[in-house]
Amino acid sequence: MKFESLCMIGLGYIGLPTAAVFASRKIKVVGVDVNQQAVDIINRGEIHIVEPDLDIAVHSAVKEGYLRATTTPEPADAFIVAVPTPFLKGRKVGDIPTPDVSYIEAASKAIAPVLEKGNIVILESTSPVGATEKMAAWLAEARPDLTFPQDAGEEADVMIAHCPERVLPGRVMYELIENDRVIGGMTLRCARAACDLYKTFVRGDCLLTTARTAEMVKLTENAFRDVNIAFANELSIICDKVDINVWELISLANRHPRVNILQPGPGVGGHCIAVDPWFIVSETPEQARLIRAAREVNDSKPEWVVNKVKLAVADFLQANPEKTAKEVTIACYGIAFKPDIDDLRESPALEITREIVAIHPGKVLVVEPNISVLPESFERSELVEFDEAMDVADIQVMLVDHRSFKRQKKIETDHEFCVDVRGVWNL
Ligand SMILES: NC(=O)c1ccc[n+]([C@@H]2O[C@H](COP(=O)([O-])OP(=O)(O)OC[C@H]3O[C@@H](n4cnc5c(N)ncnc54)[C@H](O)[C@@H]3O)[C@@H](O)[C@H]2O)c1
Repeated sequence: MKFESLCMIGLGYIGLPTAAVFASRKIKVVGVDVNQQAVDIINRGEIHIVEPDLDIAVHSAVKEGYLRATTTPEPADAFIVAVPTPFLKGRKVGDIPTPDVSYIEAASKAIAPVLEKGNIVILESTSPVGATEKMAAWLAEARPDLTFPQDAGEEADVMIAHCPERVLPGRVMYELIENDRVIGGMTLRCARAACDLYKTFVRGDCLLTTARTAEMVKLTENAFRDVNIAFANELSIICDKVDINVWELISLANRHPRVNILQPGPGVGGHCIAVDPWFIVSETPEQARLIRAAREVNDSKPEWVVNKVKLAVADFLQANPEKTAKEVTIACYGIAFKPDIDDLRESPALEITREIVAIHPGKVLVVEPNISVLPESFERSELVEFDEAMDVADIQVMLVDHRSFKRQKKIETDHEFCVDVRGVWNL
């Protein structure tokens, strides 16, 4: 099947790069976003998000007339939906979060009026199993004059598919093209048509399946990572209890030819691995016991780290009885959600540091080489260089293994007053 025009709904971290890559293959792309400011910026050939090489791609796509942004969908051969899929707000502690598919519903209702016979609608948002069928139902409800795969199967006027995205922020422009893609159609014809569309730029394999399987594949990939990180995090807590160096333990265990344990950390951050496994748990709470336990282990790690810092402060005060807690300086190294980026969203290191700032009466120094100002809730603390923190802090808390931290000299202070959750000092 040949596609000449595309309407991309949602111009964020996924939608904008995808729109730009399609446009670079001479497909006429109309990008739609409810954020007028983003629309204006894109129409100037600029970008409103940070992603290497995206600025060049968007600039030339807009300049050559293949990409244009607007706030309402327009007729096209294909529609791709890349809107957010967060949790419903207002969850009580201990409750299983419920996925919020209202953005998909709003996008479906916006697309419906301009749909035509022969179109394909593809959901790219990471979605709970069954969301693609829901999208098809919303479209069918709004357009009783057209047929859809849930009723008309292979003969449907409009084809529907789910094609999840697995790119890594920072490498999106490369991975979009090179990664293998899972393409789930509501029928085989839908999957084949979606495959034809993606093949305009994807160099990886396009693997065809059903929409429900494709939804579950994406959730499974992130649940797999989460469960494995939880195993490492749990090991770190066990080793702390029995006084064993977890970094040495893991490196020795990994010498077994069939063992490959990940590294522990401050918890799990970002908006994918910490979110997507809940989409499985919320649907099948009785069955997804391990996946739920992993989420809980990873979610509870920041609190465990804060308690370790409290113990370090208590030990320090016992060893230095002339001092009060107010005179104790704590340095936190790294607040980003992973190494070598400036992204603080959903960062467990940020959560830990914020809690330390809230409960510690003394000074808290923050070392984060990837930012130039601290977030608003950090008024009582100070952003400083690595060496300054090393020299003046009584308690050293290593939270993120940025490359520059690993290059710095080994810690010289007494090990008792350090909490190293990434093994940078290998304590
Ligand atoms: N960012 C990633 O690395 C990544 C990776 C894989 C999958 N995903 C998934 O892709 C989806 C999109 O994620 P993202 O990171 O691009 O989100 P994002 O927040 O960066 O972008 C979403 C965009 O959709 C717009 N939007 C919301 N409702 C809309 C509507 N009704 N019509 C038009 N636009 C609307 C928002 O204004 C925003 O610009 C999510 O399901 C996410 O889980 C993201």
